[in-house]
Amino acid sequence: KVVAVILVGGPTKGTRFRPLSLNIQNPKPLFPIAGQPMVHHPISACKRIPNLAQVYLVGFYEEREFALYVSAISNELRVPVRYLREDKPHGSAGGLYHFRNLIMEDNPSHIFLLNCDVCCSFPLPEMLEAHRKYGGIGTLLVIKVSPESANQFGELVADPVTNELLHYTEKPETFVSDRINCGVYVFTPEIFTAIRDVSSQRNDTATLRRVSSYEALRPATRIPADFVRLDQDILSPLAGKKQLYTYETMDFWEQIKSPGMSLRCSELYLSQFQLTSPQVLASGDGTKSAIVIGDVYIHPSAKVHPTAKIGPNVSISANARVGPGVRLISCIILDDVEIMENAVVTNAIVGWKSSIGRWSRVQAEGVYNSKLGVTILGESVAVEDEVVVTSSIVLPNKTLNVSVQDEIIL
Ligand code: GDD
Repeated sequence: KVVAVILVGGPTKGTRFRPLSLNIQNPKPLFPIAGQPMVHHPISACKRIPNLAQVYLVGFYEEREFALYVSAISNELRVPVRYLREDKPHGSAGGLYHFRNLIMEDNPSHIFLLNCDVCCSFPLPEMLEAHRKYGGIGTLLVIKVSPESANQFGELVADPVTNELLHYTEKPETFVSDRINCGVYVFTPEIFTAIRDVSSQRNDTATLRRVSSYEALRPATRIPADFVRLDQDILSPLAGKKQLYTYETMDFWEQIKSPGMSLRCSELYLSQFQLTSPQVLASGDGTKSAIVIGDVYIHPSAKVHPTAKIGPNVSISANARVGPGVRLISCIILDDVEIMENAVVTNAIVGWKSSIGRWSRVQAEGVYNSKLGVTILGESVAVEDEVVVTSSIVLPNKTLNVSVQDEIIL
């Protein structure tokens, strides 16, 4: 049997996702990407794993935030999905270790571990097959990125023939390699022994001295013995010991740390739906009653006027209303938004219950990974008629009656 664990983190981890994570009812893992909660994409990828017994979401959000979602997705997948809440953050490896007894209940031969904030094709069956061949305790998904962007991730060196992980450095200051850790792993249960060994070494003062740079950042705290990071504490020391191997993906991969990147990832997943689940996409044949261009998702409860022109890369969530003559390009429209006639929205995310007035424009250049490259309206923002909002971030509950550009509106 195989078990999958998805790390969803917790409220303190979501600060870069502001203003869309200010509202506690909207934890980042449930933020819609291509019309589905972020965590839905890794979960549905798990469906392709042979002999999958359980999917666990591990995090330190309140249980109730995931209760509805977890029961709905369990029914849909016909595989039990459970949310396991940590009482405090244990780190990426510590979180897994904390629930080892539960995870081992199904007596799995393999355990997948996935970060919830990555967007990729999740080639899980292929990784499992490669992992079995390598015979190590873990195999990680890697991808080649541009040398300039590599330092935002774990950089690694692998043996070109055996694929063994030879060297691993988390977010290094000087360039190591353009191959990076994608945050998608498969392990044998021996991983728990490796994590336990790190925890027990923590009581050793020599180890505490080695992590002193971390302590300098948080002077009043020591790293608790049960806080273990998968990258620094496990991957780095085990590299070059014939225990860890790599599987390189040639497909797409992105990390979803900011709202702007969620727009980019929506685009990637919508285009993947063309291949995997075309029925999810709006077809533009009149059934969704609007002019549709390219990949578009429209929730069945949304009301879109037949003269509106939508796409490419647009997702429209539940109960949104889109008026006559509206033009939407490259945007995420969240639940209960109203967009009035002849408004234009491009390269933007429009928060829950916001409204955009007649002939208004909400726009940006669409540089996904720069701060104001995508315009973001927080929850319940009102843009009045004929107002132009360009490359700006607007915090919840604001009313805009004049045009703004390159501004953060608090
Ligand atoms: N449950 C739980 N508990 N989850 C956690 C905790 C924790 O204490 N800490 C982090 N996570 C989750 C996050 O929500 C995220 O899904 C994942 O673990 C990794 O988060 P971080 O440890 O903050 O690392 P990162 O995202 O900056 O970088 C990691 O992922 C990159 C790929 O996206 C590293 O492993 C990099 O090397 C890697 O390139």
